[in-house]
Amino acid sequence: MEFQVDQLRSARHVVVFSGAGISAESGIPTFRDALTGLWENFAPAALATAQAFRNDPALVWGWYEWRRAKVLGAQPNAAHRAIAALARRVPMLTVVTQNVDDLLERAGCCDVLHLHGSLSSPRCFACARPYTFSADPLDEPQGGRRIEPPRCRHCNGKVRPGVVWFGESLPDDVWRKAVSAAKDCDVLLSIGTSGLVQPAAEIPRIALQHGAQVLHINLQSEPVKGDREFSLAGRAAEVLPRLVEEVFAE
Ligand code: OAD
Repeated sequence: MEFQVDQLRSARHVVVFSGAGISAESGIPTFRDALTGLWENFAPAALATAQAFRNDPALVWGWYEWRRAKVLGAQPNAAHRAIAALARRVPMLTVVTQNVDDLLERAGCCDVLHLHGSLSSPRCFACARPYTFSADPLDEPQGGRRIEPPRCRHCNGKVRPGVVWFGESLPDDVWRKAVSAAKDCDVLLSIGTSGLVQPAAEIPRIALQHGAQVLHINLQSEPVKGDREFSLAGRAAEVLPRLVEEVFAE
């Protein structure tokens, strides 16, 4: 069965659940893309842990500074903008993202729930106080380098990225708001995510269990079950603007 755009047009509350695929067309590599340069021999999941930071802080900090430079140099794409446009059209829209970039906000989305934190909010690894960057990182086309993390201005501890690493809990308030939106919505759009990382991957399932229609948008078509789950294959920056245009076309 095909997703009916009427379901989106008449929705009271839409949840957008996004992953790295939505930012791919802005030039931000996804987590499961092959990497080049210094990062070629590292799986992102092996860099995204507290233990990796303890073992080699300069490697891990350098990896996140490389990603931060990519985001600073990137622009929101048509998929980010389509979500901001949809938010202006439906009575209520909640954006839940696993992404640590700010491209949704820069496209005009408000109150984005960042389940995995943000590249722009580092904090001290020792005392957890927030740290303010003193400079933008250099974009290094060759693929980044090791960089010693800065020191906390209060306790001289090493500064860590403000993201959620594997083995860490999600920010409690953000998670609670995301679950409550998933339970409340009538349509959830799951965009550009492999759905492999828990507990984030539960969000579309929670929406389904609570009666919502769930539409997956991914490069490849996703396996779906039942008559409320749908899949549209294609690039987010093409599929989403088309879908949102149809919502606006009365
Ligand atoms: P992944 O890299 O696991 O998956 C990206 C998904 O986007 C894949 O399913 C691709 O097929 C799809 N994709 C790629 N380009 C696309 C495009 N142009 N349009 C539509 N879809 C596209 O990224 P996430 O699912 O976000 O966690 O990964 C989840 C979490 O795992 C991340 O937040 C991060 C990572 O390790 C932490 O760092 C804790």
